[in-house]
Amino acid sequence: MEEARLISLENVHKQFDGVTVLSDINLYIRKKEFVTLLGPSGCGKTTTLRIIGGFETADSGRVLFDGQDISGLPPYKRRVNTVFQKYALFPHLNVRDNIAFGLKIKKTPKDEIARKVDKMLDLVNLQGYGKRSVDSLSGGQQQRIAIARALVNEPEVLLLDEPLGALDLKLRKEMQLELKAMQQRLGITFLYVTHDQEEALTMSDTIVVMRGGRILQIGTPKSIYDEPKNAFVADFIGESNIFKGTMIRDELVRFCGAEFPCVDEGFGEDAPVDVVVRPEDVLLVGEDVGQVTGVVKSVLFKGVHYEMMIDAGHSIWKVHATTMQPEGSRVGLSVVPFNIHIMRPMQEEQ
Ligand SMILES: Nc1ncnc2c1ncn2[C@@H]1O[C@H](COP(=O)(O)OP(=O)(O)O)[C@@H](O)[C@H]1O
Ligand SMILES: [Mg+2]
Repeated sequence: MEEARLISLENVHKQFDGVTVLSDINLYIRKKEFVTLLGPSGCGKTTTLRIIGGFETADSGRVLFDGQDISGLPPYKRRVNTVFQKYALFPHLNVRDNIAFGLKIKKTPKDEIARKVDKMLDLVNLQGYGKRSVDSLSGGQQQRIAIARALVNEPEVLLLDEPLGALDLKLRKEMQLELKAMQQRLGITFLYVTHDQEEALTMSDTIVVMRGGRILQIGTPKSIYDEPKNAFVADFIGESNIFKGTMIRDELVRFCGAEFPCVDEGFGEDAPVDVVVRPEDVLLVGEDVGQVTGVVKSVLFKGVHYEMMIDAGHSIWKVHATTMQPEGSRVGLSVVPFNIHIMRPMQEEQ
């Protein structure tokens, strides 16, 4: 529905020094949605965010906010706030004054500032820290202050550029959940940037997968995981076995020296394809009944499952299973038709 679109990018292009960094970016963000731009370093995530925030202008294309073209508006006139990757807090100000900063600039009355800052300290679980100097706090606490400092301005949209990148894994996981909860409680629209696929899968309503300045796929975490559009997305969004194959005809594909029934149609006959099989979808079976056979090259316990690398002659298969086969043993491998994903081969350079 058109009305539900809060932010739209239409045909956005951007070059730096003659090099294209964003190419034909089209996407929209609905009110209260948690949208994540996901892709490897250098794919244009930050540039996209900066164009929405008004820190950068597109060479062509439009940025719409609530249906209005805001391409010409400076950052402070946009109803968005940004939390940057390097969340420079003011070291000479205490926690309270860091959070209050934006309100003071706007000449908000003192009692209102006090009330709003208290509310923010509550929200980010830092009650009682108001008078502390920011240097005395941990990375996670400082990050919460950076988020409080942005949220106190009551933006309709919060742009977050890898805000948890500097935190260690455990804290990052905690903050992911906290941020998501906060977003839902406040009903704010989040546009989040990360190169961490797990983070994107846990937090987002919608994921935008980018590569080389282009959008490859937009969808829910589940749809992107289950139905990746090409081998790059499949690989980036989770672990995958990717094989070159040939579609013999509808519902029959050849790869790794064997023919596999599958459910895909419409690729033509004798057509080159990419075949993607998730490690958790490979079944370890008896050598005599496997569709292909191989030798276990390595076994790694990963906490919940074992990860085994199987050498099947001309291919290596990564297999995740809750029971393991010892190194050196011969095994059969099998995949049910539904778990074989056929994709058109990717062009290497776009
Ligand atoms: N101000 C700039 N001047 C020149 N090149 C830039 C500038 N900002 C970004 N780039 C280039 O644009 C590309 C995309 O960068 P960026 O949007 O920061 O990617 P990401 O955030 O996905 O890592 C990169 O190749 C980067 O080097
Ligand atoms: Mg970036």
